[in-house]
Amino acid sequence: MFSHYMKRLIKVKSLLAFTLVFLWAAPAMMAQEDSTAQAQAQSGGDSDVSVDHGKELFNANCLTCHNPTDVPKTGPGLKGVTDRRSESWIIAWIQNSQKLIQSGDKQAVALYEEYNKLAMPAYEDFTEYDIKSILAYIDAYEPVVVDDKGGDETTVDGTATAGGEYLNLLLGGMIVLLLLVLVVLIIITQLLTRFLKQDENLDEADKEVVNQRFDLGAVFQSKAFLTVVGVFFFLVVSKAGIDKVMNIGIQAGYAPTQPIAFSHKLHAGANEVDCGYCHTGVYKGKSANIPSANICMNCHNQIKRSSPEIQKIYAAIENDQPIEWVRVHNLPDLVYFNHAQHTVAGQLECQNCHGQIEEMEVVQQRAPLTMGWCIDCHRETVVQGAADESNEYYDRLRAAHAKDGLKAADIKVKDIGGLECSKCHY
Ligand code: HEC
Ligand code: HEC
Ligand code: HEC
Ligand code: HEC
Ligand code: HEC
Ligand code: HEC
Repeated sequence: MFSHYMKRLIKVKSLLAFTLVFLWAAPAMMAQEDSTAQAQAQSGGDSDVSVDHGKELFNANCLTCHNPTDVPKTGPGLKGVTDRRSESWIIAWIQNSQKLIQSGDKQAVALYEEYNKLAMPAYEDFTEYDIKSILAYIDAYEPVVVDDKGGDETTVDGTATAGGEYLNLLLGGMIVLLLLVLVVLIIITQLLTRFLKQDENLDEADKEVVNQRFDLGAVFQSKAFLTVVGVFFFLVVSKAGIDKVMNIGIQAGYAPTQPIAFSHKLHAGANEVDCGYCHTGVYKGKSANIPSANICMNCHNQIKRSSPEIQKIYAAIENDQPIEWVRVHNLPDLVYFNHAQHTVAGQLECQNCHGQIEEMEVVQQRAPLTMGWCIDCHRETVVQGAADESNEYYDRLRAAHAKDGLKAADIKVKDIGGLECSKCHY
């Protein structure tokens, strides 16, 4: 007489389990189909390339010198390159352009001359697959288009990303909820089975259900399944953990891709725009400041207006949204650092701490920004103001140190309190 209810319970449980497996797998399957479809669309059915893979390679290796549009940077804009060159030529060029030039290839030599003999790095370990993927990405690339209302953005894959994220969140929540229900169901069936087994007077139908050999519930309760799930969760959790730790540890060498391909080499280098023109706080106070879009507009309301990169600045202003630059240098909150103290009083150059920014296409953190780095410099560096005998501000300091036998030119930052904890820590 119980068997009827038990059977139902087990059915619901199995159904739930299947739904869960499907929910889990569906997004991954959809993503897979999406990117293959995209790749096929772009390469005329050739599924041997991956736009995503190409994008990754392009951003990591080529973006510093090439736009995926037809706008030139250090090198030519690459949109349409497959129309002007053969595929085999492009592959040979990317793998080793110098070799191709030395072989006397006319196109290669002409291009090299046109770009003032700027040598492009060789990418000899790039396979045909890698390069075709890059070309597929360039083909697929569409600059962010802002419609008249300045609202919706259409990206390469044409999906509304914000909506997609919301959906993922919803899906994730559902999976968690269903998982909980499943666990509760498993516990109930197990308890019921155990309870029924103790009952001596079961009729045949009940016995069959209770002693059922194969049941999906059993699979889900099996050690093997639990181990797999356990390992899976462990991996997910530890990956999240590792990502977090790695982010905290990001130090010298960090050079994130920025939302607009802004080049210091072009602005501060070739065009010699003063650092303080854009970083307005650097000689005045604590923070150097990242320029607002309006500062860009002082020039770009005239210069290169139609460039897709410049259009992004227009879009930011029209939408009243700040450009979301990715922060490169970041001291922990417990540290006090003041730019004016270093650039004005200390008379240091930006390059002492930031390296040759005027030669960088993409800003890279050069200094480790550790406590040891600050302290080492404070131990060794002379206080310029004190060394300059005509600077009256430092008269008393010089007099005080003279008593200890320290010459003006030898007063270091450490002698004015540059090693005291409270100077750098709130
Ligand atoms: C350091 C700058 C630099 C990097 C990085 C770079 N290139 Fe180039 N590339 C150039 C320059 C400059 C030229 C123009 C020819 C010359 O002077 O060598 C060029 C030319 C090319 C051409 C020929 C374009 C045409 O119009 O025929 C292709 C294709 C190309 N690069 C692809 C790539 C790819 C793909 C990557 C990344 C894997 C890459 N480049 C990375 C600087 C660079
Ligand atoms: C035309 C405006 C402009 C000029 C001139 C300019 N910068 Fe910048 N700088 C920017 C913008 C925009 C960013 C943020 C985007 C980026 O990181 O590339 C930035 C970022 C930086 C950063 C990294 C900030 C961070 O997030 O940690 C440093 C360091 C820097 N600039 C130093 C310099 C120095 C040094 C000079 C002079 C040699 C200079 N800049 C000249 C506009 C400018
Ligand atoms: C003092 C004038 C000036 C200011 C301010 C300025 N730029 Fe420029 N920018 C230029 C010049 C000049 C060029 C080179 C144009 C050329 O190649 O013909 C340029 C080129 C660019 C390019 C390359 C465009 C392309 O497609 O080739 C980008 C991107 C850019 N600027 C972004 C910015 C951003 C972002 C800001 C604000 C943080 C900014 N610029 C502020 C003068 C300026
Ligand atoms: C003594 C070393 C030192 C010198 C010199 C220096 N900086 Fe910095 N800079 C730093 C440190 C450290 C940070 C990170 C500050 C933080 O995270 O609070 C930083 C951050 C920045 C940032 C990011 C925005 C901000 O204010 O946090 C910009 C932009 C910048 N510096 C530009 C410049 C420019 C331009 C000069 C030269 C005029 C310069 N810096 C000179 C050490 C230095
Ligand atoms: C390249 C050398 C250099 C580096 C690196 C450096 N400093 Fe300094 N610092 C100086 C100099 C020079 C002065 C003296 C300025 C003056 O003349 O008053 C100074 C002064 C200071 C002062 C004021 C000290 C006082 O007694 O008035 C503080 C606070 C400070 N630095 C914090 C830092 C922090 C925090 C860092 C690391 C994030 C750092 N500095 C990195 C060179 C450096
Ligand atoms: C010249 C500036 C300077 C002085 C002086 C200084 N610190 Fe620091 N301190 C820093 C900076 C910068 C960091 C951040 C380092 C990092 O993120 O790796 C730091 C980090 C720390 C931390 C955190 C370490 C961590 O791993 O998070 C402690 C604790 C600390 N300092 C204690 C002290 C004590 C105690 C003194 C005095 C004996 C002192 N500091 C003097 C600049 C300074």
